[in-house]
Amino acid sequence: MEKILVLDFGGQYDLLIARRVRELGVFAEIKPYNKISLEQIKSEGYKGIIFTGGPNSVYEESSPRFSAEILNIGVPLLGICYGHQLIAYLAGGEIRSAGSISEYGKTEVEIKKCTLFENIPEKSVCWMSHTDFVSRLPDGFETTAVTSSCPCAAMACEKRRIYGVQFHPEVTHTEYGKTLLSNFLFGVCGCSGDWKMDDFIEKTVAEYKEKLKGKRVLCALSGGVDSSVAAVLMHRAVGDNLVCVFVDHGLLRKNEGDDVERIFRGKFNIKLVRVNAEERFLSKLSGVTEPEKKRKIIGEEFIRVFEEESRSLGKVDYLVQGTIYPDVVESGKGDASTIKSHHNVGGLPSVIDFEGIVEPLRELFKDEVRSVGLKLGLPEYLVMRQPFPGPGLAVRIIGDITKEKADTLREADAIFREELEKADVRPSQYFAVLTDTRSVGVMGDARTYGHTVALRAVTTDDFMTADWTRIPFEILETASRRITNEVKTVNRIVYDITSKPPATVEWE
Ligand code: XMP
Repeated sequence: MEKILVLDFGGQYDLLIARRVRELGVFAEIKPYNKISLEQIKSEGYKGIIFTGGPNSVYEESSPRFSAEILNIGVPLLGICYGHQLIAYLAGGEIRSAGSISEYGKTEVEIKKCTLFENIPEKSVCWMSHTDFVSRLPDGFETTAVTSSCPCAAMACEKRRIYGVQFHPEVTHTEYGKTLLSNFLFGVCGCSGDWKMDDFIEKTVAEYKEKLKGKRVLCALSGGVDSSVAAVLMHRAVGDNLVCVFVDHGLLRKNEGDDVERIFRGKFNIKLVRVNAEERFLSKLSGVTEPEKKRKIIGEEFIRVFEEESRSLGKVDYLVQGTIYPDVVESGKGDASTIKSHHNVGGLPSVIDFEGIVEPLRELFKDEVRSVGLKLGLPEYLVMRQPFPGPGLAVRIIGDITKEKADTLREADAIFREELEKADVRPSQYFAVLTDTRSVGVMGDARTYGHTVALRAVTTDDFMTADWTRIPFEILETASRRITNEVKTVNRIVYDITSKPPATVEWE
């Protein structure tokens, strides 16, 4: 299989580079610069190498470097930002600090003809983010691009197939970034672009078959996209040595628990332990109204239940986690101000004794995970579905939680989702919330005093910010009529028209 090495020097866009390369149909592998030797690089047969950006300055003592010998192994190289400077430095050029004229943001770049810039106009917009710049080119290189303040925005040594760009072709703000990367892969490295998700599946399954031979593997299955795909992928690798534990905390959506059981045990023949812990969770939550407290209780109880179950399974060697790339980035950010304490299985390893953790999806973006899921035969409705928070309906029932309220919300939520899906309107996330407001209504000739349900739908790319979705009134009308008719105790429906910020997606 042809592949590209993304040699990581600590940049913030490393995975984005790999993703872009994969989007172009070539497999990209990321290796930190200090975790792979020159010998390994030579023996892996890479078609090309991309040096990533990084926060350092090449002259600092502690800066990440690589043996200059890499320039002589005959594999095409592309350096990006710090990678560009490092190549210049290793090849004998000079780097200087631009001091007060550092460039940041969208910048006009003027290019000269070279293989890397095929089909790119002479002037276009690129994304810059740097303080240092290449002040003297190494022998044999020529400047191939400039900006108004950067005299070497790109350089090339066509003969040795070595290139460097000061800007970031991997971000969408660089107008012709994709063309540039495609020129490197196909024009310079001679790739054929035949990589598919099937190759990822094959490679990952083969790798874990070997690594986990004879080991017992445990997976905390939530029924969400990531843990589901991770479980099925691991099942391919280790078969019956995989056991999935699915904790049903009683705050799942309508039919969700039974669906999980049907799919994983029924369709895939995976060993599945379903823990019906509704009563246990509801009793812990009884009378609790404070949102953070609810989250904490559920998170802790989840770990406790999972711990008990895994103990009863005897010795387990590995824990599978459905970590995906955005989780890796999020946790690396060390965000100091907690808005909500998120619940997922991230806290498990510290309380359970495992030999190791396997995270087969940690290099994939959500859309790539979905495409793996479909290829593995998971049903489309599961793979394509909207996110659902770990604490489930607990953060959508305002005030104290009871089984009656959870059942009421489950019904209302199912109707709202059904109406949207029937009309093929699919916001990024859509659900119902059971408020703690009661109001007076009239049904037949009788007075009612019922619950108010809020409907919520948002449109977003990243869930960090979100806009409320302009759902057609007809859908809202039908959903409102059906919920008030079909769900006992609900007599009023409101639609949430707040964006994030100032609100959040969930109500708690
Ligand atoms: P907020 O409410 O913070 O939600 O705007 C942003 C996204 O995160 C989801 N969410 C969670 N996901 N565990 C999760 O796995 C949680 O505890 C959790 N809380 C919120 C929310 O559904 C939305 O997609």
